[in-house]
Amino acid sequence: MKVLLLSLVVLCVLCSSYNLMIGGALGETNALSYPLPKLSIVPGTLTVSGLSSGAYMATQFHVAFSKTVRGAGVFAGGPYYCAQNDFAKANAGCMKVASMIDLDSIQANVKEFERQGLIDPIENLKGQSVYLFSGLKDYVVFQAVMNKLKDQYSKYFGITRIVAHFGSIASHAMITNNYGGKCDFFGSPFINNCDYDAASEVFSTLLKEYNGTSIPHVEENFYMFPQKDKYLASSFDEYGYIYIPKACRTTQCRIHVVFHGCLQGRSSIGDVYAKNAGYLQHAELNNLIILFPQVTTLAKVNPNGCMDWWGYTNEKYATKEGEQLVAVRNMLLDLGVTDF
Ligand SMILES: *[C@@H]1O[C@H](CO)[C@@H](O)[C@H](O)[C@H]1NC(C)=O
Repeated sequence: MKVLLLSLVVLCVLCSSYNLMIGGALGETNALSYPLPKLSIVPGTLTVSGLSSGAYMATQFHVAFSKTVRGAGVFAGGPYYCAQNDFAKANAGCMKVASMIDLDSIQANVKEFERQGLIDPIENLKGQSVYLFSGLKDYVVFQAVMNKLKDQYSKYFGITRIVAHFGSIASHAMITNNYGGKCDFFGSPFINNCDYDAASEVFSTLLKEYNGTSIPHVEENFYMFPQKDKYLASSFDEYGYIYIPKACRTTQCRIHVVFHGCLQGRSSIGDVYAKNAGYLQHAELNNLIILFPQVTTLAKVNPNGCMDWWGYTNEKYATKEGEQLVAVRNMLLDLGVTDF
């Protein structure tokens, strides 16, 4: 606990000066009203990805809703349900001490969730794809932890198509080829330029047809939307972000959910993550809607605005009854994802 708090204090020193630089960026974005518009989504094309706490959330969402989600991109995360509803486990084994992670014990929890219908049958994961990224200089979530996730996906969940990119000198960050700090830089906004288009690698791994050519996003197609009523969960921000290519108002499109990491939500860095993590430049050409749920800080239990991967919302946080998962599922249902 102390170690995490200390490292978070360090992180916050870095982030607060950054906040000053981007202060005023909020509120300039097109706003959608509640609820989200009903669009036409190609069945079976929902995919997810995330960084750090968002990576843990991407895996949780993937596993809990494996009937609907068709693949995940995981940057600096760890095994599904690694923390087993225990902050101490999250803070130690699930970030740094991989030898403490007991995949057999987690699998017993998984089987029990499955039996109770709290997650979709694991069987659905067979034949799916995942993309995994871990930097050699990531000292927040060590590579050994990601290797445990790789083992879980392959040996316990039966996923045969795993693209793992573990050779970069990257620090703890989302990786781009055109934005952010140097590849091994550690600090806000935790987006590093490693001359590697990681978002594109996620899409090319997970999507059947994909054109990796980058084109600028269209500013009018980027919106904020209220995360209220059915879209609300503990620690969720008042607003989320979404990118809807104009074509997707009239033609069938695919959809991808991006889960940001700690200190990367709207209250920390505005729309910097949504706009610069590398996803938007692939949306238009691929008719891809991109949803960015936003988490804010919550006194004491979530001071850094992390997605819940240790149980600060409820004890079923990693399942179909997890508050944050339910809220995001509700957004997707309204947007027209039909196969939940
Ligand atoms: C991808 O899109 C670009 C821009 O529209 C186009 O020039 C290129 O031919 C496309 N590539 C493929 C493989 O379809």
